[in-house]
Amino acid sequence: MGGAVIITEVQSRHELYEGKTTVAVILIATVAACGGLLLGYDNGIMGGITANPDYQAKFFPNIAKHPADVNMFCKYDDHILSLVTSCLYLSAAAAALMGGWTSNKYGRKFTMVCAGVFFGIGTVLVAAAVNVEMLVAGRVVLGFGVGLATQATPLYLTEMAPHNIRGALNVMFQLAVTIGIFAAQGINFGTLNIPDYGWRLSFALGGVPALLLFCGSLLLPDTPNSLVARGKVEEGLAILQRIRGCEDVHSEFEDIQKAVETNRSSKSAYCTILGRRYWPQLSICILLPFFQQFSGINAVMFFSPQMFEAAGQESSEAMMSTVIMGSVNVASTLVAILLVDRLGRRFLFFQGGGQMLCCLAAVAALIHYSALSPNNEQLAATVIAFICIYVAGFAWSWGPLAWLVPSEIATIETRAAGTAIATCTNFLFTFLIGQCFLSMLCSMTWGVFLFFAGFVVLMTAFVGLFVPETKGVPVEEVDALIVTEHWFWSRVVKGAAGSDSSQESFESSQVSASAVASGKATRLSVLVEIDQENKL
Ligand code: BGC
Repeated sequence: MGGAVIITEVQSRHELYEGKTTVAVILIATVAACGGLLLGYDNGIMGGITANPDYQAKFFPNIAKHPADVNMFCKYDDHILSLVTSCLYLSAAAAALMGGWTSNKYGRKFTMVCAGVFFGIGTVLVAAAVNVEMLVAGRVVLGFGVGLATQATPLYLTEMAPHNIRGALNVMFQLAVTIGIFAAQGINFGTLNIPDYGWRLSFALGGVPALLLFCGSLLLPDTPNSLVARGKVEEGLAILQRIRGCEDVHSEFEDIQKAVETNRSSKSAYCTILGRRYWPQLSICILLPFFQQFSGINAVMFFSPQMFEAAGQESSEAMMSTVIMGSVNVASTLVAILLVDRLGRRFLFFQGGGQMLCCLAAVAALIHYSALSPNNEQLAATVIAFICIYVAGFAWSWGPLAWLVPSEIATIETRAAGTAIATCTNFLFTFLIGQCFLSMLCSMTWGVFLFFAGFVVLMTAFVGLFVPETKGVPVEEVDALIVTEHWFWSRVVKGAAGSDSSQESFESSQVSASAVASGKATRLSVLVEIDQENKL
């Protein structure tokens, strides 16, 4: 067969899908959101715990004994202290890749249950830690939970949700992350005054969403896609009928079966995305999360109490400011949910980037000035205000979009690999920033904020030049935009056409794109089926 490319015009296939948002979907979304809560909790918890005097006295007595006149920029510059925060992201990066495999082989549900188990064990280890080794081991185990949950829960949500709320649910995952961060910061503030075991309580409360995720995932069904892919076709159909709340789900079910077949017959998704044909997707899936981390957000999320102390606040004031910042993060993510489909991704990237750039420059200048005039409360308050405005800018742009855009930009053949690569990249650079920031703050002082500001300029330029607008474009048609319309990627991809086996999808994308360009294709859904036997 001549590489069977079947292009079918179906007045938006999605419109043929029956069903509504049922109670089952809401329950599913709630449990799956616990995956986001846990990631957020682990991101937000270490800053406050590190600032807790009992924790310091137990594990880092040298820091606790620092005299009052110590250089505040260097007070926390300790590699082991940073390692306790950052090691989690190294195991999370490995687990995100592993989760791609377990999700395919044993199902999304299985992967989420495993995440719950790792969270449970990790929580016990960190809460009961008697030495630094146990703390690090606990954080590494938590990292496995974070990686598996971050891989499996968004996938689970995407496959369970009705198509019309899929985008919103994707951003909901980010909302859950910010709520997790906020909860951790609030809990740290509350446990600060509990003598001796306050920090243990902070760690232990992370067990609550872990337990919810574990029990919830045990009770929830697996996704129809995962069941069909593992040969349980009838069960898959029954689950789809149950979650859509109606019998007639055949159009959607047919599409699920087709998508599963395409995936099954494709080369490994990882091999596919490495081919030149998919360099645009690969580059965007790597560079967006890379830049997201180099915006400096986790320097703020992990170490804001330390930064606020460096800016001149007392320990408890710094914790309070951190809680305020966490609430700004949650509120601004809500703004993203409202605006992302109205203003578009690129507008938010530019606006958020501009806001972050101005704030980072202002914070650098203010911290430089505050070092010259210490104990200036007004100055400290202004620094905190700018950091909150910076966090708001991040939360309605790079926060959700660095997760959303990679999943939109990847094609069906590359989506699993693309999102796993994006997640893994995100965690690797989260690790790097977590490990290096306190040393950078010590050696560069205010210059570290200019360092991040430089990256914000680069990443905004990257979006301007290389990231197409995906607002309102059906995911099946995004590839066509890249292949024929984009000034740079179209040339890159052209070099691949004919030179590899993806000629068929290149051609199909061209057909689709010309239809998009001529305005006929707003309701065109292109289903590409590649006869892989012929391809190989
Ligand atoms: C990032 C996390 C960060 C969080 C802050 C997420 O998008 O990936 O690393 O801690 O946003 O809200």
